[in-house]
Amino acid sequence: MIPVGVLVSGRGSNLSALLDAARAPECPYFIACVISDQPAALALETAKKAGIPAFFHEKLPQMKKREYERELVTRLREFGVQVVALAGFMRILGETFLAEYPNRVLNIHPSLLPAFPGLHAQDQAFRAQARYAGCTVHLVDAGMDTGPILDQACLRVDRSWNAQQLAQHILELEHRLYPAALARFCRNEFRLEDGRVHEFSIPAWLE
Ligand code: GRF
Repeated sequence: MIPVGVLVSGRGSNLSALLDAARAPECPYFIACVISDQPAALALETAKKAGIPAFFHEKLPQMKKREYERELVTRLREFGVQVVALAGFMRILGETFLAEYPNRVLNIHPSLLPAFPGLHAQDQAFRAQARYAGCTVHLVDAGMDTGPILDQACLRVDRSWNAQQLAQHILELEHRLYPAALARFCRNEFRLEDGRVHEFSIPAWLE
């Protein structure tokens, strides 16, 4: 069983999806701890209700980014975390953090990357009148939503949807994709070679 640390900033619906999936006996990971950079994040409540150790770590204004990241890493190490899953964590991680977890940090982004990186990806897709939208699970590098793509899920956009409905449909897809991709990652079904991702099996949930 791989101990996973989840970093959050807000609502925590993806955290809930990861927690639900972790209850299945065949799931190869468990959520070892949750860290938020926001004190009022709903995700902290969700974690506590599930009996998962949950912490608020504040980035104080005088703190250097590397000091803050060292603090996060220390906490994650305390819980033996081997893989980190970002779930709505609103900070860009730097070298201090990533060097501790090289190619071991995953993120979910609500677009079909490389289209629509950054904030409000669903709105970007809506405004662009994209016919297909979706979500991406990728490894985190020092860029903004630029790391190697592990998996994606997509949907055809119904022209009758408004921006909120589109975001909701994407979110539902995220809740299926993220636990599945994380489980496959924890089972070593992805191999990274020269920045390219190789897969050992076809995701069952897509068949
Ligand atoms: C999700 O849309 C995720 O793709 C993005 O941030 C949002 C987090 O939502 N990275 P939640 O906190 O998991 O509900």
